[in-house]
Amino acid sequence: MKHAKKVVLAFSGGVDTSACIPFLLNEYGVDEVVAFAADLGQGDELESVRQKALTAGASQSLVDDLIKPFIEEFAFPAIRANALYEGKYPLSTALARPLIARRLVEIAREVGADAVAHGCTGKGNDQVRFDLAIGTLAPELKVLTPAREWTMSREELITYGERFGIPAPVSKKSPYSIDLNLLGRSIEAGSLEDLSLPPMEDVFQMTSSIEKSPEKFDEIEILFENGNPIAIDGIHLDPVSLISKVNILAGRHGFGRIDMIENRVVGIKSREIYETPGLLLLIKAHQELESLTLPADVLKTKLNIDRQWAELVYQGLWFTPLKNALDGFIERTQNDVNGSIKIRLHKGNMIIIGRNSTNNSLYLSDYSTYGNKDKFQHQLAKGFIYIWGLPSRIWAEVNSRKELK
Ligand code: ARG
Repeated sequence: MKHAKKVVLAFSGGVDTSACIPFLLNEYGVDEVVAFAADLGQGDELESVRQKALTAGASQSLVDDLIKPFIEEFAFPAIRANALYEGKYPLSTALARPLIARRLVEIAREVGADAVAHGCTGKGNDQVRFDLAIGTLAPELKVLTPAREWTMSREELITYGERFGIPAPVSKKSPYSIDLNLLGRSIEAGSLEDLSLPPMEDVFQMTSSIEKSPEKFDEIEILFENGNPIAIDGIHLDPVSLISKVNILAGRHGFGRIDMIENRVVGIKSREIYETPGLLLLIKAHQELESLTLPADVLKTKLNIDRQWAELVYQGLWFTPLKNALDGFIERTQNDVNGSIKIRLHKGNMIIIGRNSTNNSLYLSDYSTYGNKDKFQHQLAKGFIYIWGLPSRIWAEVNSRKELK
């Protein structure tokens, strides 16, 4: 059966997405496959990725540099939202998906395709993110998902690919499944499936081990403006350069490793290792600046909004009215988030060693001090506590009477 005429495929150069090309052409009866690979700072040789798609039978193979929008429109909002899924994972993989989906849809419209395709399996979160984003942005496009339907094992897949000139993976195959971009690396499978063991050192690339990290600490100062990191040690940097620089500074001290069991959208638990040195450091520094500059009730409400924001993004709900509404709340709060946070990096730790906000610090020593310049009116606390505790005292009075009866 003919599933579509012209398809734009999200292409990574791996065996799975490569096999998608002959599969779409032969099994799905598609006339033409246009491959699209995104440069998100993963450091792949993208010209050879582009060639691979042509070898596998794509009629056109496109590579787009999306690093700038990735950092500005996806990573920076995540920093402003202190986004940590289940309190731990800074969404380095999840944030890339709505951007790739958005570009897939744009290309499909540019080349007049009637469908888009991705090579995600039926077990992961990424299929959810692609399907939902595409469905919202372009309800008119079909979404073809060969890897969710074929029943080939990995060996069968490699053999299938070889029939169409797709070379088997050359280097001795990595035992891990890895996703990477400028924000970090996500690593699962292989020996990581034994939950009783720590990850082997060979899973890491962006972060040093504690043993090999420098004996001497480094100190850095991050300047924020409206919740966005804009300078390191007084030097202003564009968002992409800033993230790249913090990745290196924090990574060499072994900061940014996460080993977690997480709850996937499809209902299973999985164990994933992340290394996201720059993003994690910037989120923690941003959080610290908010503690200093946001009023108590705003801060506490934002903790809930932030948690919900991270959950929506993890679950593939980037392009939704609820996500937009939460963004609205977050943006309103960020006008106050100006100042700098000083950090010491040492042996896998980031330690906050200084906070400063000239215009927005709500820590007024007039009130907070224990010294003799104290303006706080101690005697008024008594009346406040009388009224604050009234409901529970009334309850206690009523209930103690009952017990006496
Ligand atoms: N669990 C992460 C997420 O859902 C990463 C998924 C990709 N991981 C991988 N090792 N291929 O965002």
